[in-house]
Amino acid sequence: MQSNIQWFPGHMAKAIRQFEANIKLVDVVFELVDARIPFTSINPEVSRISQGKPRLMILTKADLADPKLTQQWLRFFRAQGLAALAVDAKLTGVQKKIEKAARTLLTTKLAAQSERGMERQTIKAICVGVPNVGKSTLLNQLVQKRSAPVGNRPGVTKGQQWLTGNGHLELLDTPGILWPKFQNQTVAEKLALTGAIRDSAYHSDDVALFALQFFRATNPEALQERYHLQARDLELPAPELLLLITANLGMRDDYERASDRMITDVRKGKLGRFTLDDPQDVVTDEH
Ligand code: G4P
Repeated sequence: MQSNIQWFPGHMAKAIRQFEANIKLVDVVFELVDARIPFTSINPEVSRISQGKPRLMILTKADLADPKLTQQWLRFFRAQGLAALAVDAKLTGVQKKIEKAARTLLTTKLAAQSERGMERQTIKAICVGVPNVGKSTLLNQLVQKRSAPVGNRPGVTKGQQWLTGNGHLELLDTPGILWPKFQNQTVAEKLALTGAIRDSAYHSDDVALFALQFFRATNPEALQERYHLQARDLELPAPELLLLITANLGMRDDYERASDRMITDVRKGKLGRFTLDDPQDVVTDEH
């Protein structure tokens, strides 16, 4: 794994500045994390910057994650006092689910508003999360049309727009793209395997080897079936196993191509639903 992800600090600083400016304009933050890496895809800056604002943790891609672990993660976040729900952001109906959760989260605020005779029941929100977590997909679900440009509201980038939907949600049209901290190699490998780091930032064989080790330990049958392996093949050292898979895929010794194939298979759920983070590990995790 290349450790020199040089683009990170500059992009991060800019994204943080934007998020800091936008946070003042919203009632609630929708913090998107990938249900396959609900802990690894958290950005600690989000909780710092959103202090005082209600946050809704939305675990996206729940359809690709291990359902049992998703339930455990939801319990984990709720135990921290956070509202949390898991979704398949591509499914219709997700809008109602999220709006309901946001309303519950803002019950007191909305009640106070109506007591003061304020009619506004609109909820202003922003989606933040790592690249590829599903921000655009969710935005498209939550809103149906573009509202008029915002003009010169303070803190809003010129030309920035609010998006409004059928319901009572308004969302900033530019989702906050944030990166988690790359504390160690495993974090980087998990982000790469799930697609949060662009492909050119890592060697695909490193990530494929990481995937091999994970699936060998958690779902060896899926590996066997997908790549025509015998049970005893799984005992090979991981690099040899990768070469065998390369051959079985008819790619001779082109292990990089086989690695790319394997990464795509994993991301598409061809090796089954999986979750790389385990809440049991959090206590001892250096996060
Ligand atoms: P981003 O704005 O945060 O960068 O993410 P974006 O919405 O572009 O989503 C990245 C990819 O993840 C897209 O796939 C999208 O369809 C997929 N995706 C988003 N949310 C979910 C989800 O809850 N479940 C599943 N299974 N997939 C989700 P893509 O390969 O780029 O495009 P396509 O497959 O939709 O053509």
